[in-house]
Amino acid sequence: MFLTTLLLQALLLVPVWSHYYVAVNGNDFGPGSATAPFRTLERAQAAVQRSTKGMRSDIYVYVGPGTYYLNEPLKFTSEDSGQHGHRVIWQAQDMIKGVNISGGVRITKWKASSAGKGIYEAQAPAFTTRHFYANQAHAQRARAQVQRSWVNQTATGLKVVNDSAKYILTMPGLEHAEFHAHNSFTSRYNPVTGASNDTIFMAQPAWNNNIIGYDSFNKPDVDHGLYVENALSLLTDPNEWYLDPESHIIYYMPPSGQDPSNMYLVLAKLETLLLIGGTYDQPVHDLTFRGFNYMHTTWNVGYVDQQTGGYIGTNKSYTNFEASRPFWWQVPGSIQVSAAQNILFQNGSIVALMGGFGIGNDPNAHTTGVGLGASDVEISGMLLHQTGANAITLGGIQANAHHPSDPRMLNQNTRILENIFTDLGYTIDSAVPIFASYAKDTYIVHNDIVNVPYSGICYGYGWGSNDAGGSPQYQLRGLYNYQPVYNTPTTMQGGRISANLLYSVGTLHSDDGGIYTLSASPNTTLSDNWVKSPQAYGTYT
Ligand SMILES: *[C@@H]1O[C@H](CO)[C@@H](O)[C@H](O)[C@H]1NC(C)=O
Ligand SMILES: *[C@@H]1O[C@H](CO)[C@@H](O)[C@H](O)[C@H]1NC(C)=O
Ligand SMILES: *[C@@H]1O[C@H](CO)[C@@H](O)[C@H](O)[C@H]1NC(C)=O
Ligand SMILES: *[C@@H]1O[C@H](CO)[C@@H](O)[C@H](O)[C@H]1NC(C)=O
Ligand SMILES: *[C@@H]1O[C@H](CO)[C@@H](O)[C@H](O)[C@H]1NC(C)=O
Ligand SMILES: *[C@@H]1O[C@H](CO)[C@@H](O)[C@H](O)[C@H]1NC(C)=O
Ligand SMILES: *[C@@H]1O[C@H](CO)[C@@H](O)[C@H](O)[C@H]1NC(C)=O
Repeated sequence: MFLTTLLLQALLLVPVWSHYYVAVNGNDFGPGSATAPFRTLERAQAAVQRSTKGMRSDIYVYVGPGTYYLNEPLKFTSEDSGQHGHRVIWQAQDMIKGVNISGGVRITKWKASSAGKGIYEAQAPAFTTRHFYANQAHAQRARAQVQRSWVNQTATGLKVVNDSAKYILTMPGLEHAEFHAHNSFTSRYNPVTGASNDTIFMAQPAWNNNIIGYDSFNKPDVDHGLYVENALSLLTDPNEWYLDPESHIIYYMPPSGQDPSNMYLVLAKLETLLLIGGTYDQPVHDLTFRGFNYMHTTWNVGYVDQQTGGYIGTNKSYTNFEASRPFWWQVPGSIQVSAAQNILFQNGSIVALMGGFGIGNDPNAHTTGVGLGASDVEISGMLLHQTGANAITLGGIQANAHHPSDPRMLNQNTRILENIFTDLGYTIDSAVPIFASYAKDTYIVHNDIVNVPYSGICYGYGWGSNDAGGSPQYQLRGLYNYQPVYNTPTTMQGGRISANLLYSVGTLHSDDGGIYTLSASPNTTLSDNWVKSPQAYGTYT
């Protein structure tokens, strides 16, 4: 149908406009004008692609109010870019109402369930997800706390050593359950495969990788709670949910007195919403997104958290922790930008999603397979909240991020200005509002950061190990058996962290700070920041 539309447009020689319109009640067979808007963002994209060649002014796509549920992520490449110094501006037609971009499916037709008092159930479509949102907030997967003293770590899993945890061994659906360890600065998951006698068996390679290194699964620096999650029999508290992976029936216990038919309940289907990614030869460029609210994504992959969204990947089991360090992966953003220049996100929000913005991360965190190389990206005037992971992750953590093998991989001139960050990190609660790993000239100015579980602004990575000359500490730890000692500085330099307000930081974790810096960053200025938090350091260098 889509191709037919294009053919039709070509045959009818529909003129090329500099203004297009989209509305939830529009029609993709129309001209996309103010009076006959398109129905889908994809249709508008096709029209824009035809218009950029000879563009002599900015092209505007005005998107009418409403919620646009995506079937797949929107992809923007060099083909979608502004040309001849002009921009393509995707903008909410009504900047007060905004526009919702959703990666989820609304679940309706709830009925009382026989699974327990206060539990409702509904039929969901057949897909795998770890995220369900209730009234634009993260609902909690059904869970129960397990005292650390009730289980002992073995090579294959957890041995039950106290009768209080015995029920887990015979729990129905145990093979779909996960354990979640809230530690000092890590938030680790491990899927369960089953149980026999007194031992709960853990999935590999997650388990091997979770029990090595620092602040590890069962040897936390600080214990902030261990939970078993994701079985129907654990669903006992308001706002908990469970999705049966065979019948695709979803179970939910609304807050007391609420009728789920009157709630906005959304099961997340997509992992990403916007894939803005070119190649180093043909970057995507000159795009503005203004007044959009991004929502409802999931992520079904990572378990072995290390710090601020770096995790040990799923494709290898390590016995030596330092061998893993140069190859950690990154949690992908729901909005991904790489091999890109001059991309602006202004106003609007991110809410009720898993990953936030992923700007120039390593290739493993970009669906396009091309990471890094983001310059002149701006995120301004936005509200960033109710994420599962970091709200903004800038830069990669592997070798090409700190010592690019191609100069076009450099991330530079990112501007994070005048945003509000609050109430986030619901899946990986060691997440932060702003994490910049390795990037040149990053401006983090005039942001408000309030009520977050771990640190506020994390700036730098690598604990000095990738700085020129290396680190004596990492020499001792044996890291340089697995990566070089670099003789040149990393890409981290310049920029400014200034006039930010940070309030109530570190509500769930420890070993954290309002502004937490790691490794050398010459010519970076920190000034006029105000941090007030009883739990965390102010500036943690
Ligand atoms: C976006 O979704 C929220 C939550 O359902 C709703 O309150 C708001 O009206 C929606 N915005 C638009 C522009 O439809
Ligand atoms: C559990 O581990 C602790 C600490 O290693 C040990 O003291 C205890 O004996 C173990 N308990 C059982 C029942 O194996
Ligand atoms: C089992 O755990 C409970 C609650 O933590 C505790 O009161 C009890 O002493 C434990 N039992 C044994 C045998 O350690
Ligand atoms: C379970 O316990 C029984 C009886 O003690 C023993 O024979 C069996 O080998 C055990 N199975 C496993 C998998 O440990
Ligand atoms: C997976 O592991 C292989 C072998 O260690 C490695 O070459 C590859 O880069 C890894 N993939 C990612 C995404 O890290
Ligand atoms: C958009 O954000 C900027 C801050 O960067 C702010 O000055 C402006 O008022 C916002 N516009 C709207 C319509 O909210
Ligand atoms: C820092 O800035 C000064 C003044 O602009 C400049 O001379 C110097 O080269 C810069 N240093 C680095 C490492 O970029």
